[in-house]
Amino acid sequence: MTDKVNSIKSNGPFRLAFVTGASSGIGKALCRLLAREGIHLAITGRNKHTLYQLADEIRSHVNVVVYPADLSKQDEREVIIRKIHELSPDLVINNAGFGLYGEVVQVDKEELFQIIEVNETAVLDLCVESAKAILNSDHNGVILNVSSVGAFMPFPGNAVYGAAKAFVNSLSLAMDEELRGKGVRVLAACPGMVKTNFSYRASQGKQKSKSKKQKMSPEYAAEQIWTQIKKRKPVHIFDGKYRFFVFLIKYILPTRLVLRYLRKSMSKMYQDV
Ligand SMILES: NC(=O)c1ccc[n+]([C@@H]2O[C@H](COP(=O)([O-])OP(=O)(O)OC[C@H]3O[C@@H](n4cnc5c(N)ncnc54)[C@H](OP(=O)(O)O)[C@@H]3O)[C@@H](O)[C@H]2O)c1
Repeated sequence: MTDKVNSIKSNGPFRLAFVTGASSGIGKALCRLLAREGIHLAITGRNKHTLYQLADEIRSHVNVVVYPADLSKQDEREVIIRKIHELSPDLVINNAGFGLYGEVVQVDKEELFQIIEVNETAVLDLCVESAKAILNSDHNGVILNVSSVGAFMPFPGNAVYGAAKAFVNSLSLAMDEELRGKGVRVLAACPGMVKTNFSYRASQGKQKSKSKKQKMSPEYAAEQIWTQIKKRKPVHIFDGKYRFFVFLIKYILPTRLVLRYLRKSMSKMYQDV
């Protein structure tokens, strides 16, 4: 199967995309979009069932290989990294990630370390190895890290997640500067709230559905990411409402006020559940 993906020419602007977190939400929508663009896919996530279901669905468009893995485990990450070197994708999407609602001292500390492991360590590991794989190949490539609008501010009520996404933005911008002259681009996509399993997992299964009305769809998020990739835009906040919010908190509003507002709205979100 690996050979099949490697040998067949793509009709799209990329030959092969390697996508993490493909089993759900934004990752799944993005895989469907990339398949429509004629880009072959290597997909990973923990949930084998949904990964294989997705692969069956999009196989009529492109070739797909499935590598189930838990990215919080180093040995499983190593398998994924070996596959990246073997397949040499020209597009890598580090999308897997999760958050945890609650105050740092009240939530399970192990879960906080898992956030670091998946949202930071795995992103760093895959970013470095994907960049090396592209540098060692005869093609250019793009690495896109799915970050968050939460990267732009301390995030009381989801603090470690916000800190991890700030790391992702900082890493992506620095690596992009180091590598852009060598044919590798490293981009960070920053969605606001998207209708996926994210809140359900972050609230440990208790999130009410009423807040879903204000959220963007995973398909919209996927379109935004695809446009960002085509334009090679280093950091992209979607949509306008969130861009304005980030402008306010960066340049206009006092940090204390922003933190108080975020803390209030977050605690409403996780205490109401
Ligand atoms: N939804 C939002 O409001 C929002 C806003 C800003 C940024 N984001 C970011 O968008 C990205 C995608 O999230 P989503 O909204 O699409 O949420 P989602 O529906 O919960 O999808 C998360 C994906 O990450 C994978 N994942 C989580 N832990 C993993 C692990 N230990 N090993 C391997 N894969 C793992 C999941 O795979 P399994 O289900 O198979 O475990 C799933 O495919 C994340 O990085 C998230 O931080 C989301």
